Amino acid sequence: MRHFVLLLILTTSLFAGSPGTLRTGAVATAHSEATRVGVETLERGGNAVDAAIAVGFALAVVHPTAGNIGGGGFMVIRFPDGRATTIDFRERAPARANPEMFLDDQHNYSADRHHHSHLSVGVPGTVAGFALAHDKYGRTPWPELMAPSVKLAAEGFTITPGLAKSLADTLERFRKHPPTLAQFTRAGTPYQSGDQLIQPDLGQTLTRIQELGRDGFYLGETADLFIREIERGGGLITAKDLRNYNAVERPPLRTTFRGYDIITMPPPSSGGVALIEMLNILDGFDLAALGHNSPSYVHHLTESMRIAYRDRARYVADPDSVEIPVTRLTSPDYAASQRATINPTAASHSAPEQLDQPYESEQTTHYSIVDADGLAVAVTTTLEEEYGVAMIVPGAGFLMNNEMGDFNAAPGLTTTAGLIGTSPNLARPGQRMLSSMTPTILAREGRLVAVLGSPGGRGIINTVLQLVLNRVVFNMPAEQAVREKRFHHQWLPPDIKLEQGLLDTAGIENLKQLGHTITERETQGRSHVIFIDSSSNIPLPIPDPREQDAAGSTTKN
Ligand code: DON
Repeated sequence: MRHFVLLLILTTSLFAGSPGTLRTGAVATAHSEATRVGVETLERGGNAVDAAIAVGFALAVVHPTAGNIGGGGFMVIRFPDGRATTIDFRERAPARANPEMFLDDQHNYSADRHHHSHLSVGVPGTVAGFALAHDKYGRTPWPELMAPSVKLAAEGFTITPGLAKSLADTLERFRKHPPTLAQFTRAGTPYQSGDQLIQPDLGQTLTRIQELGRDGFYLGETADLFIREIERGGGLITAKDLRNYNAVERPPLRTTFRGYDIITMPPPSSGGVALIEMLNILDGFDLAALGHNSPSYVHHLTESMRIAYRDRARYVADPDSVEIPVTRLTSPDYAASQRATINPTAASHSAPEQLDQPYESEQTTHYSIVDADGLAVAVTTTLEEEYGVAMIVPGAGFLMNNEMGDFNAAPGLTTTAGLIGTSPNLARPGQRMLSSMTPTILAREGRLVAVLGSPGGRGIINTVLQLVLNRVVFNMPAEQAVREKRFHHQWLPPDIKLEQGLLDTAGIENLKQLGHTITERETQGRSHVIFIDSSSNIPLPIPDPREQDAAGSTTKN
Protein backbone atom coordinates (compact mmCIF):
# COMPACT_ATOMS: atom_id res chain seq x y z
CA MET A 1 0.00 0.00 0.00
CA ARG A 2 2.80 2.38 0.99
CA HIS A 3 4.48 1.76 -2.36
CA PHE A 4 1.26 2.52 -4.16
CA VAL A 5 0.89 5.84 -2.33
CA LEU A 6 4.50 6.75 -3.05
CA LEU A 7 4.03 5.91 -6.70
CA LEU A 8 0.92 8.02 -6.80
CA ILE A 9 2.69 11.00 -5.24
CA LEU A 10 5.57 10.59 -7.66
CA THR A 11 3.43 10.30 -10.75
CA THR A 12 1.22 13.11 -9.56
CA SER A 13 4.14 15.41 -9.14
CA LEU A 14 5.54 14.42 -12.53
CA PHE A 15 2.25 15.41 -14.00
CA ALA A 16 2.15 18.79 -12.36
CA GLY A 17 4.51 20.05 -15.06
CA SER A 18 2.29 19.32 -18.01
CA PRO A 19 -1.01 21.09 -17.58
CA GLY A 20 -3.76 19.89 -19.84
CA THR A 21 -2.54 16.34 -20.25
CA LEU A 22 -4.20 13.44 -18.46
CA ARG A 23 -2.92 10.11 -17.22
CA THR A 24 -5.04 8.18 -19.73
CA GLY A 25 -7.90 8.65 -22.13
CA ALA A 26 -11.42 7.66 -21.10
CA VAL A 27 -14.73 6.83 -22.70
CA ALA A 28 -18.24 6.57 -21.21
CA THR A 29 -21.16 5.50 -23.40
CA ALA A 30 -24.50 3.73 -23.33
CA HIS A 31 -23.04 0.43 -24.56
CA SER A 32 -19.94 -1.65 -23.86
CA GLU A 33 -19.23 -2.30 -27.57
CA ALA A 34 -19.28 1.42 -28.29
CA THR A 35 -17.02 2.08 -25.32
CA ARG A 36 -14.63 -0.60 -26.57
CA VAL A 37 -14.57 1.02 -30.03
CA GLY A 38 -13.80 4.39 -28.46
CA VAL A 39 -11.00 3.05 -26.28
CA GLU A 40 -9.44 1.15 -29.18
CA THR A 41 -9.57 4.24 -31.37
CA LEU A 42 -7.69 6.19 -28.70
CA GLU A 43 -5.19 3.40 -28.09
CA ARG A 44 -4.38 3.28 -31.80
CA GLY A 45 -3.40 6.94 -31.69
CA GLY A 46 -6.69 8.60 -32.50
CA ASN A 47 -7.67 11.73 -30.63
CA ALA A 48 -10.93 12.28 -28.72
CA VAL A 49 -12.70 13.65 -31.82
CA ASP A 50 -11.75 10.54 -33.77
CA ALA A 51 -13.01 8.38 -30.93
CA ALA A 52 -16.25 10.37 -30.74
CA ILE A 53 -16.88 9.70 -34.42
CA ALA A 54 -16.06 5.99 -34.16
CA VAL A 55 -18.28 5.70 -31.07
CA GLY A 56 -21.12 7.57 -32.77
CA PHE A 57 -21.14 5.17 -35.71
CA ALA A 58 -20.85 2.16 -33.38
CA LEU A 59 -23.84 3.36 -31.36
CA ALA A 60 -25.83 3.54 -34.61
CA VAL A 61 -25.36 -0.24 -34.78
CA VAL A 62 -25.44 -1.46 -31.17
CA HIS A 63 -27.71 1.14 -29.55
CA PRO A 64 -30.41 1.69 -32.18
CA THR A 65 -32.80 3.30 -29.71
CA ALA A 66 -30.84 6.52 -30.06
CA GLY A 67 -27.47 5.96 -31.73
CA ASN A 68 -27.97 6.84 -35.35
CA ILE A 69 -26.94 7.88 -38.80
CA GLY A 70 -30.50 8.96 -39.58
CA GLY A 71 -30.75 11.52 -36.79
CA GLY A 72 -28.72 14.40 -35.45
CA GLY A 73 -27.04 15.89 -32.43
CA PHE A 74 -24.45 18.22 -30.98
CA MET A 75 -20.76 17.93 -30.17
CA VAL A 76 -18.90 20.21 -27.74
CA ILE A 77 -15.11 20.11 -27.99
CA ARG A 78 -12.61 21.60 -25.54
CA PHE A 79 -8.98 21.72 -26.59
CA PRO A 80 -6.15 21.23 -24.09
CA ASP A 81 -5.28 24.94 -24.27
CA GLY A 82 -8.77 25.93 -23.14
CA ARG A 83 -10.23 26.98 -26.48
CA ALA A 84 -13.51 25.33 -27.35
CA THR A 85 -15.91 24.87 -30.23
CA THR A 86 -19.13 23.06 -31.09
CA ILE A 87 -20.48 21.13 -34.04
CA ASP A 88 -24.21 21.48 -34.69
CA PHE A 89 -25.55 18.53 -36.67
CA ARG A 90 -29.16 19.02 -35.72
CA GLU A 91 -31.69 17.87 -38.33
CA ARG A 92 -33.31 20.49 -40.56
CA ALA A 93 -36.82 20.86 -41.89
CA PRO A 94 -37.16 20.07 -45.59
CA ALA A 95 -37.57 23.01 -48.00
CA ARG A 96 -41.24 22.15 -48.44
CA ALA A 97 -41.96 22.37 -44.69
CA ASN A 98 -44.44 24.93 -43.42
CA PRO A 99 -45.76 25.83 -39.98
CA GLU A 100 -49.13 24.22 -40.71
CA MET A 101 -47.80 20.92 -41.99
CA PHE A 102 -48.99 19.03 -38.90
CA LEU A 103 -52.64 20.01 -39.46
CA ASP A 104 -54.86 17.56 -41.32
CA ASP A 105 -57.22 18.30 -44.21
CA GLN A 106 -59.84 19.59 -41.76
CA HIS A 107 -57.24 21.91 -40.29
CA ASN A 108 -57.08 19.90 -37.07
CA TYR A 109 -53.77 19.23 -35.38
CA SER A 110 -52.60 15.66 -35.95
CA ALA A 111 -50.16 14.25 -33.41
CA ASP A 112 -49.64 11.38 -35.80
CA ARG A 113 -48.38 13.67 -38.54
CA HIS A 114 -46.25 15.56 -36.06
CA HIS A 115 -44.60 12.56 -34.43
CA HIS A 116 -45.30 9.28 -36.17
CA SER A 117 -45.39 9.80 -39.92
CA HIS A 118 -42.96 10.39 -42.74
CA LEU A 119 -43.74 14.09 -42.24
CA SER A 120 -42.08 13.81 -38.83
CA VAL A 121 -38.72 12.95 -40.37
CA GLY A 122 -36.15 15.75 -40.42
CA VAL A 123 -33.21 15.92 -42.83
CA PRO A 124 -30.56 13.92 -40.96
CA GLY A 125 -27.39 15.60 -39.72
CA THR A 126 -25.20 12.98 -38.08
CA VAL A 127 -23.02 11.92 -40.99
CA ALA A 128 -22.40 15.52 -42.07
CA GLY A 129 -21.60 16.48 -38.49
CA PHE A 130 -19.07 13.71 -38.05
CA ALA A 131 -17.53 14.50 -41.45
CA LEU A 132 -17.16 18.17 -40.47
CA ALA A 133 -15.67 17.30 -37.08
CA HIS A 134 -13.27 14.91 -38.76
CA ASP A 135 -12.19 17.38 -41.46
CA LYS A 136 -11.44 20.02 -38.87
CA TYR A 137 -10.21 18.16 -35.83
CA GLY A 138 -9.71 14.45 -36.56
CA ARG A 139 -6.42 12.78 -37.34
CA THR A 140 -7.25 9.10 -37.92
CA PRO A 141 -8.15 8.26 -41.53
CA TRP A 142 -11.95 8.20 -41.90
CA PRO A 143 -12.18 4.60 -43.18
CA GLU A 144 -10.38 3.38 -40.07
CA LEU A 145 -12.88 5.15 -37.84
CA MET A 146 -15.73 3.40 -39.57
CA ALA A 147 -14.25 -0.07 -39.74
CA PRO A 148 -15.53 -1.20 -36.32
CA SER A 149 -19.11 -0.14 -36.98
CA VAL A 150 -19.12 -1.76 -40.42
CA LYS A 151 -17.97 -4.97 -38.77
CA LEU A 152 -20.53 -4.76 -35.94
CA ALA A 153 -23.33 -4.31 -38.47
CA ALA A 154 -22.20 -6.84 -41.07
CA GLU A 155 -20.93 -9.58 -38.77
CA GLY A 156 -23.22 -8.90 -35.82
CA PHE A 157 -22.83 -8.43 -32.11
CA THR A 158 -24.26 -10.01 -29.00
CA ILE A 159 -27.56 -8.55 -27.85
CA THR A 160 -27.26 -7.20 -24.31
CA PRO A 161 -30.01 -7.48 -21.69
CA GLY A 162 -30.94 -3.81 -22.05
CA LEU A 163 -31.22 -4.00 -25.83
CA ALA A 164 -33.22 -7.24 -25.68
CA LYS A 165 -35.73 -5.60 -23.35
CA SER A 166 -35.95 -2.46 -25.43
CA LEU A 167 -36.44 -4.41 -28.70
CA ALA A 168 -39.18 -6.50 -27.08
CA ASP A 169 -40.86 -3.39 -25.65
CA THR A 170 -40.96 -1.81 -29.11
CA LEU A 171 -42.41 -4.82 -30.94
CA GLU A 172 -45.80 -3.23 -31.60
CA ARG A 173 -44.23 -0.21 -33.24
CA PHE A 174 -41.95 -2.42 -35.37
CA ARG A 175 -44.97 -4.42 -36.54
CA LYS A 176 -46.34 -1.37 -38.34
CA HIS A 177 -43.40 -1.37 -40.74
CA PRO A 178 -42.42 -4.86 -41.91
CA PRO A 179 -38.82 -4.04 -42.95
CA THR A 180 -38.19 -2.76 -39.42
CA LEU A 181 -39.77 -5.85 -37.88
CA ALA A 182 -37.50 -7.95 -40.09
CA GLN A 183 -34.38 -6.08 -39.00
CA PHE A 184 -35.04 -6.06 -35.26
CA THR A 185 -36.78 -9.41 -34.61
CA ARG A 186 -36.33 -13.02 -35.64
CA ALA A 187 -39.28 -13.25 -38.03
CA GLY A 188 -41.51 -11.37 -35.62
CA THR A 189 -40.26 -13.01 -32.41
CA PRO A 190 -38.22 -10.82 -30.08
CA TYR A 191 -34.52 -11.56 -29.81
CA GLN A 192 -33.20 -12.72 -26.44
CA SER A 193 -30.20 -11.43 -24.59
CA GLY A 194 -27.20 -13.37 -25.91
CA ASP A 195 -28.53 -13.66 -29.48
CA GLN A 196 -26.58 -12.14 -32.36
CA LEU A 197 -27.99 -9.12 -34.20
CA ILE A 198 -26.72 -8.88 -37.77
CA GLN A 199 -27.77 -5.88 -39.90
CA PRO A 200 -26.44 -6.45 -43.43
CA ASP A 201 -28.21 -3.49 -45.08
CA LEU A 202 -26.90 -1.15 -42.40
CA GLY A 203 -23.45 -2.66 -42.97
CA GLN A 204 -23.71 -1.80 -46.67
CA THR A 205 -24.75 1.77 -45.93
CA LEU A 206 -21.93 2.22 -43.45
CA THR A 207 -19.54 0.81 -46.06
CA ARG A 208 -20.70 3.44 -48.56
CA ILE A 209 -20.10 6.14 -45.95
CA GLN A 210 -16.74 4.58 -45.14
CA GLU A 211 -15.71 4.76 -48.79
CA LEU A 212 -17.29 8.07 -49.82
CA GLY A 213 -17.54 10.11 -46.63
CA ARG A 214 -20.66 12.23 -46.33
CA ASP A 215 -21.49 11.61 -50.00
CA GLY A 216 -22.02 7.96 -49.11
CA PHE A 217 -25.07 9.09 -47.15
CA TYR A 218 -26.36 12.26 -48.80
CA LEU A 219 -25.87 11.21 -52.45
CA GLY A 220 -26.05 8.04 -54.50
CA GLU A 221 -27.59 4.78 -53.40
CA THR A 222 -28.22 5.65 -49.74
CA ALA A 223 -29.93 8.90 -50.71
CA ASP A 224 -31.98 7.14 -53.41
CA LEU A 225 -33.21 4.51 -50.97
CA PHE A 226 -34.02 7.16 -48.38
CA ILE A 227 -35.98 9.35 -50.77
CA ARG A 228 -37.86 6.34 -52.12
CA GLU A 229 -39.05 5.52 -48.58
CA ILE A 230 -39.93 9.15 -47.85
CA GLU A 231 -41.99 9.38 -51.06
CA ARG A 232 -43.68 6.06 -50.38
CA GLY A 233 -44.84 7.39 -47.02
CA GLY A 234 -45.85 10.88 -48.19
CA GLY A 235 -42.95 12.77 -46.58
CA LEU A 236 -41.52 16.07 -47.79
CA ILE A 237 -37.76 15.48 -47.89
CA THR A 238 -36.22 15.64 -51.38
CA ALA A 239 -32.86 14.67 -52.84
CA LYS A 240 -32.04 18.37 -52.86
CA ASP A 241 -32.73 18.66 -49.13
CA LEU A 242 -30.27 15.85 -48.51
CA ARG A 243 -27.66 17.34 -50.81
CA ASN A 244 -28.01 20.75 -49.18
CA TYR A 245 -27.79 19.56 -45.57
CA ASN A 246 -24.98 21.34 -43.75
CA ALA A 247 -23.54 20.83 -40.31
CA VAL A 248 -22.39 24.07 -38.66
CA GLU A 249 -19.47 24.87 -36.42
CA ARG A 250 -20.62 27.39 -33.81
CA PRO A 251 -18.84 29.09 -30.93
CA PRO A 252 -19.93 27.56 -27.63
CA LEU A 253 -21.75 29.46 -24.92
CA ARG A 254 -19.39 30.06 -22.02
CA THR A 255 -19.83 31.36 -18.54
CA THR A 256 -18.12 31.19 -15.18
CA PHE A 257 -19.94 29.77 -12.19
CA ARG A 258 -18.20 29.90 -8.81
CA GLY A 259 -14.78 29.69 -10.37
CA TYR A 260 -15.63 26.97 -12.90
CA ASP A 261 -15.74 27.56 -16.64
CA ILE A 262 -18.92 26.20 -18.16
CA ILE A 263 -18.66 25.44 -21.88
CA THR A 264 -21.97 24.45 -23.43
CA MET A 265 -24.13 24.22 -26.53
CA PRO A 266 -25.65 27.34 -28.11
CA PRO A 267 -28.95 27.42 -30.08
CA PRO A 268 -30.51 25.59 -31.84
CA SER A 269 -30.15 23.82 -28.52
CA SER A 270 -31.99 25.56 -25.74
CA GLY A 271 -29.73 23.68 -23.33
CA GLY A 272 -26.86 26.13 -22.97
CA VAL A 273 -29.04 29.23 -22.70
CA ALA A 274 -31.28 27.67 -20.06
CA LEU A 275 -28.39 26.12 -18.14
CA ILE A 276 -26.55 29.44 -17.90
CA GLU A 277 -29.72 31.34 -17.06
CA MET A 278 -30.45 28.94 -14.19
CA LEU A 279 -26.87 28.96 -12.89
CA ASN A 280 -26.87 32.75 -12.93
CA ILE A 281 -30.12 32.90 -10.99
CA LEU A 282 -28.96 30.27 -8.48
CA ASP A 283 -25.62 31.97 -7.98
CA GLY A 284 -27.42 34.47 -5.77
CA PHE A 285 -28.57 31.84 -3.27
CA ASP A 286 -26.59 30.02 -0.59
CA LEU A 287 -27.37 26.61 -2.04
CA ALA A 288 -25.07 24.70 0.29
CA ALA A 289 -26.89 26.16 3.27
CA LEU A 290 -30.23 25.03 1.86
CA GLY A 291 -28.93 21.45 1.91
CA HIS A 292 -28.65 19.13 -1.08
CA ASN A 293 -32.09 17.88 -2.24
CA SER A 294 -33.83 19.41 0.77
CA PRO A 295 -37.38 20.70 0.14
CA SER A 296 -36.07 24.25 0.18
CA TYR A 297 -33.32 23.36 -2.33
CA VAL A 298 -35.88 21.71 -4.62
CA HIS A 299 -38.06 24.81 -4.30
CA HIS A 300 -35.30 27.28 -5.23
CA LEU A 301 -34.15 25.22 -8.19
CA THR A 302 -37.73 24.70 -9.32
CA GLU A 303 -38.42 28.43 -9.36
CA SER A 304 -35.27 28.98 -11.45
CA MET A 305 -36.30 26.19 -13.80
CA ARG A 306 -39.76 27.71 -14.20
CA ILE A 307 -38.24 31.01 -15.34
CA ALA A 308 -35.68 29.47 -17.71
CA TYR A 309 -38.15 27.08 -19.34
CA ARG A 310 -40.65 29.89 -19.81
CA ASP A 311 -37.97 31.90 -21.60
CA ARG A 312 -36.99 28.84 -23.61
CA ALA A 313 -40.55 28.56 -24.94
CA ARG A 314 -40.79 32.26 -25.65
CA TYR A 315 -37.51 32.95 -27.34
CA VAL A 316 -35.25 30.05 -28.26
CA ALA A 317 -35.12 28.41 -31.69
CA ASP A 318 -32.79 28.04 -34.68
CA PRO A 319 -30.45 31.07 -34.60
CA ASP A 320 -30.14 30.94 -38.40
CA SER A 321 -33.89 31.50 -38.75
CA VAL A 322 -34.93 33.72 -35.85
CA GLU A 323 -33.35 36.35 -33.66
CA ILE A 324 -32.72 35.11 -30.11
CA PRO A 325 -31.81 37.43 -27.20
CA VAL A 326 -29.05 35.08 -26.02
CA THR A 327 -26.89 37.81 -24.52
CA ARG A 328 -29.74 39.17 -22.44
CA LEU A 329 -31.00 35.76 -21.30
CA THR A 330 -27.54 34.70 -20.17
CA SER A 331 -26.55 37.97 -18.49
CA PRO A 332 -26.10 38.33 -14.71
CA ASP A 333 -28.29 41.46 -14.73
CA TYR A 334 -31.20 39.62 -16.26
CA ALA A 335 -30.68 36.78 -13.79
CA ALA A 336 -30.72 39.26 -10.91
CA SER A 337 -34.02 40.70 -12.12
CA GLN A 338 -35.51 37.21 -12.36
CA ARG A 339 -34.09 36.08 -9.02
CA ALA A 340 -35.86 38.98 -7.38
CA THR A 341 -39.20 37.48 -8.40
CA ILE A 342 -38.54 34.26 -6.47
CA ASN A 343 -40.30 33.94 -3.12
CA PRO A 344 -38.25 31.65 -0.87
CA THR A 345 -41.34 30.28 0.84
CA ALA A 346 -44.00 30.11 -1.86
CA ALA A 347 -44.31 28.59 -5.33
CA SER A 348 -45.05 30.95 -8.20
CA HIS A 349 -47.37 30.05 -11.04
CA SER A 350 -46.70 29.09 -14.60
CA ALA A 351 -48.54 31.55 -16.84
CA PRO A 352 -51.45 29.75 -18.46
CA GLU A 353 -51.50 31.89 -21.59
CA GLN A 354 -48.05 30.61 -22.53
CA LEU A 355 -49.13 27.06 -21.95
CA ASP A 356 -47.73 23.70 -22.53
CA GLN A 357 -45.15 21.84 -24.50
CA PRO A 358 -45.38 19.38 -27.34
CA TYR A 359 -44.98 15.70 -26.75
CA GLU A 360 -41.40 14.63 -26.17
CA SER A 361 -40.05 11.19 -25.59
CA GLU A 362 -37.24 9.91 -23.41
CA GLN A 363 -34.78 8.48 -25.91
CA THR A 364 -31.50 10.03 -26.81
CA THR A 365 -27.96 9.17 -25.84
CA HIS A 366 -25.01 11.05 -24.45
CA TYR A 367 -21.36 9.99 -24.45
CA SER A 368 -18.18 11.55 -23.13
CA ILE A 369 -14.60 11.12 -24.29
CA VAL A 370 -11.20 12.49 -23.29
CA ASP A 371 -7.81 11.63 -24.68
CA ALA A 372 -4.53 11.69 -22.79
CA ASP A 373 -3.62 15.02 -24.41
CA GLY A 374 -6.59 16.53 -22.61
CA LEU A 375 -8.83 16.99 -25.64
CA ALA A 376 -12.40 16.55 -24.40
CA VAL A 377 -15.53 15.80 -26.40
CA ALA A 378 -19.16 15.72 -25.23
CA VAL A 379 -21.73 14.37 -27.70
CA THR A 380 -25.48 14.08 -27.32
CA THR A 381 -27.28 12.50 -30.26
CA THR A 382 -30.85 11.45 -30.94
CA LEU A 383 -33.51 10.11 -33.24
CA GLU A 384 -35.95 11.98 -30.94
CA GLU A 385 -38.26 9.16 -29.80
CA GLU A 386 -36.97 5.67 -29.02
CA TYR A 387 -35.98 4.21 -32.43
CA GLY A 388 -37.09 7.53 -33.99
CA VAL A 389 -40.17 6.99 -36.12
CA ALA A 390 -39.48 3.23 -35.74
CA MET A 391 -39.07 2.79 -39.47
CA ILE A 392 -35.87 1.80 -41.17
CA VAL A 393 -35.11 2.78 -44.74
CA PRO A 394 -35.66 -0.47 -46.65
CA GLY A 395 -32.44 -1.64 -48.27
CA ALA A 396 -30.38 0.87 -46.29
CA GLY A 397 -31.02 -0.49 -42.80
CA PHE A 398 -30.95 2.76 -40.82
CA LEU A 399 -33.71 4.22 -38.69
CA MET A 400 -35.37 7.48 -39.63
CA ASN A 401 -35.74 10.15 -36.94
CA ASN A 402 -39.00 11.82 -35.93
CA GLU A 403 -37.29 15.04 -34.96
CA MET A 404 -39.85 17.29 -36.71
CA GLY A 405 -41.85 16.60 -33.54
CA ASP A 406 -39.53 19.04 -31.77
CA PHE A 407 -41.05 21.90 -33.78
CA ASN A 408 -44.09 23.58 -32.30
CA ALA A 409 -47.40 22.07 -33.39
CA ALA A 410 -48.95 24.93 -35.36
CA PRO A 411 -49.16 28.75 -35.25
CA GLY A 412 -51.06 29.94 -32.20
CA LEU A 413 -52.04 26.40 -31.24
CA THR A 414 -51.53 26.35 -27.50
CA THR A 415 -53.67 23.90 -25.58
CA THR A 416 -53.88 22.62 -22.04
CA ALA A 417 -53.39 19.15 -23.51
CA GLY A 418 -49.77 19.93 -24.16
CA LEU A 419 -49.17 21.87 -27.35
CA ILE A 420 -47.39 25.14 -27.89
CA GLY A 421 -47.87 27.53 -30.76
CA THR A 422 -45.36 30.33 -30.20
CA SER A 423 -43.71 31.59 -33.35
CA PRO A 424 -39.92 31.13 -33.06
CA ASN A 425 -39.90 27.33 -33.19
CA LEU A 426 -42.44 26.72 -35.95
CA ALA A 427 -41.53 24.41 -38.85
CA ARG A 428 -40.16 26.59 -41.62
CA PRO A 429 -38.15 25.60 -44.69
CA GLY A 430 -34.63 24.59 -43.71
CA GLN A 431 -35.04 25.58 -40.05
CA ARG A 432 -33.52 23.45 -37.32
CA MET A 433 -35.98 22.33 -34.65
CA LEU A 434 -35.35 23.45 -31.08
CA SER A 435 -33.51 20.94 -28.91
CA SER A 436 -32.80 20.46 -25.22
CA MET A 437 -29.60 18.48 -25.66
CA THR A 438 -26.92 19.98 -23.44
CA PRO A 439 -23.45 18.53 -23.97
CA THR A 440 -21.32 20.52 -21.53
CA ILE A 441 -17.69 20.66 -20.43
CA LEU A 442 -16.39 22.02 -17.11
CA ALA A 443 -12.92 23.41 -16.50
CA ARG A 444 -11.24 25.27 -13.67
CA GLU A 445 -8.15 27.43 -13.83
CA GLY A 446 -7.40 26.07 -17.28
CA ARG A 447 -7.76 22.42 -16.33
CA LEU A 448 -10.41 20.03 -17.50
CA VAL A 449 -12.85 19.06 -14.73
CA ALA A 450 -15.73 17.15 -16.32
CA VAL A 451 -17.44 16.15 -19.54
CA LEU A 452 -21.21 16.09 -19.02
CA GLY A 453 -24.54 15.50 -20.74
CA SER A 454 -27.63 13.32 -20.73
CA PRO A 455 -30.68 12.22 -22.68
CA GLY A 456 -34.15 12.83 -21.34
CA GLY A 457 -36.03 15.33 -23.49
CA ARG A 458 -36.56 18.62 -21.75
CA GLY A 459 -35.26 17.05 -18.55
CA ILE A 460 -31.77 17.00 -20.08
CA ILE A 461 -31.07 20.60 -19.12
CA ASN A 462 -32.06 20.05 -15.51
CA THR A 463 -30.06 16.85 -15.30
CA VAL A 464 -26.95 18.70 -16.46
CA LEU A 465 -27.73 21.57 -14.07
CA GLN A 466 -27.84 19.14 -11.14
CA LEU A 467 -24.63 17.40 -12.22
CA VAL A 468 -22.91 20.79 -12.25
CA LEU A 469 -24.29 21.76 -8.84
CA ASN A 470 -23.45 18.37 -7.32
CA ARG A 471 -19.87 18.88 -8.34
CA VAL A 472 -19.33 22.60 -7.99
CA VAL A 473 -21.46 23.47 -4.97
CA PHE A 474 -21.46 20.18 -3.07
CA ASN A 475 -18.08 18.88 -4.18
CA MET A 476 -19.40 15.33 -4.49
CA PRO A 477 -17.20 12.47 -5.60
CA ALA A 478 -17.83 11.63 -9.25
CA GLU A 479 -19.96 8.54 -8.79
CA GLN A 480 -22.13 10.20 -6.20
CA ALA A 481 -22.62 13.24 -8.39
CA VAL A 482 -24.12 10.96 -11.05
CA ARG A 483 -25.99 8.65 -8.69
CA GLU A 484 -27.80 11.32 -6.64
CA LYS A 485 -31.55 11.57 -7.26
CA ARG A 486 -32.67 14.25 -9.68
CA PHE A 487 -35.81 16.22 -10.36
CA HIS A 488 -37.33 18.18 -13.17
CA HIS A 489 -39.62 21.15 -13.63
CA GLN A 490 -40.31 22.72 -17.01
CA TRP A 491 -42.69 25.61 -16.39
CA LEU A 492 -45.62 23.80 -17.89
CA PRO A 493 -47.08 21.43 -16.98
CA PRO A 494 -46.52 22.89 -13.53
CA ASP A 495 -45.67 19.76 -11.54
CA ILE A 496 -42.23 18.91 -10.18
CA LYS A 497 -41.16 15.44 -11.29
CA LEU A 498 -39.05 13.80 -8.58
CA GLU A 499 -37.04 10.65 -8.99
CA GLN A 500 -38.61 8.15 -6.59
CA GLY A 501 -37.09 8.38 -3.15
CA LEU A 502 -35.64 11.87 -3.57
CA LEU A 503 -37.87 13.12 -0.77
CA ASP A 504 -39.77 11.27 1.93
CA THR A 505 -43.46 11.89 2.61
CA ALA A 506 -42.72 14.78 4.96
CA GLY A 507 -40.47 16.43 2.36
CA ILE A 508 -43.11 16.10 -0.34
CA GLU A 509 -45.71 17.49 2.03
CA ASN A 510 -43.41 20.42 2.74
CA LEU A 511 -43.21 21.24 -1.00
CA LYS A 512 -46.97 20.95 -1.33
CA GLN A 513 -47.32 23.44 1.50
CA LEU A 514 -45.27 25.88 -0.58
CA GLY A 515 -47.79 25.46 -3.38
CA HIS A 516 -46.08 22.92 -5.62
CA THR A 517 -47.64 19.89 -7.26
CA ILE A 518 -45.49 16.78 -7.21
CA THR A 519 -45.28 13.65 -9.32
CA GLU A 520 -42.71 10.90 -9.02
CA ARG A 521 -41.04 8.78 -11.65
CA GLU A 522 -38.46 6.05 -11.65
CA THR A 523 -35.50 7.75 -13.28
CA GLN A 524 -34.38 10.98 -14.90
CA GLY A 525 -31.69 10.94 -17.56
CA ARG A 526 -28.78 8.63 -18.25
CA SER A 527 -25.63 10.67 -18.04
CA HIS A 528 -22.49 8.85 -19.15
CA VAL A 529 -19.91 11.36 -18.03
CA ILE A 530 -16.26 11.75 -17.19
CA PHE A 531 -14.83 13.55 -14.16
CA ILE A 532 -11.14 14.27 -13.85
CA ASP A 533 -9.58 13.48 -10.51
CA SER A 534 -7.73 16.72 -9.94
CA SER A 535 -4.98 15.34 -7.70
CA SER A 536 -3.96 12.43 -9.94
CA ASN A 537 -5.13 13.74 -13.36
CA ILE A 538 -6.85 10.43 -13.91
CA PRO A 539 -10.11 10.66 -15.88
CA LEU A 540 -12.94 8.74 -14.24
CA PRO A 541 -15.55 7.53 -16.72
CA ILE A 542 -18.89 7.19 -14.95
CA PRO A 543 -21.58 5.29 -16.83
CA ASP A 544 -24.92 6.21 -15.32
CA PRO A 545 -26.28 3.25 -13.32
CA ARG A 546 -29.72 4.20 -14.62
CA GLU A 547 -28.83 2.60 -17.99
CA GLN A 548 -28.41 -1.16 -17.94
CA ASP A 549 -25.94 -1.58 -20.82
CA ALA A 550 -23.79 1.47 -20.12
CA ALA A 551 -20.03 1.11 -19.83
CA GLY A 552 -17.02 3.27 -19.08
CA SER A 553 -13.34 2.54 -19.55
CA THR A 554 -9.98 4.24 -19.47
CA THR A 555 -7.28 3.57 -22.03
CA LYS A 556 -4.13 1.64 -21.17
CA ASN A 557 -2.04 4.77 -21.62
O1 DON B 1 -33.47 17.35 -29.14
C1 DON B 1 -34.17 17.15 -28.17
O2 DON B 1 -34.18 17.88 -27.21
C2 DON B 1 -35.03 15.92 -28.11
N1 DON B 1 -35.32 15.43 -29.41
C3 DON B 1 -34.33 14.93 -27.30
C4 DON B 1 -35.18 13.75 -27.06
C5 DON B 1 -34.68 13.03 -25.91
O3 DON B 1 -33.80 13.38 -25.20
C6 DON B 1 -35.34 11.84 -25.61
N2 DON B 1 -34.46 11.19 -24.63
N3 DON B 1 -34.11 10.50 -23.96
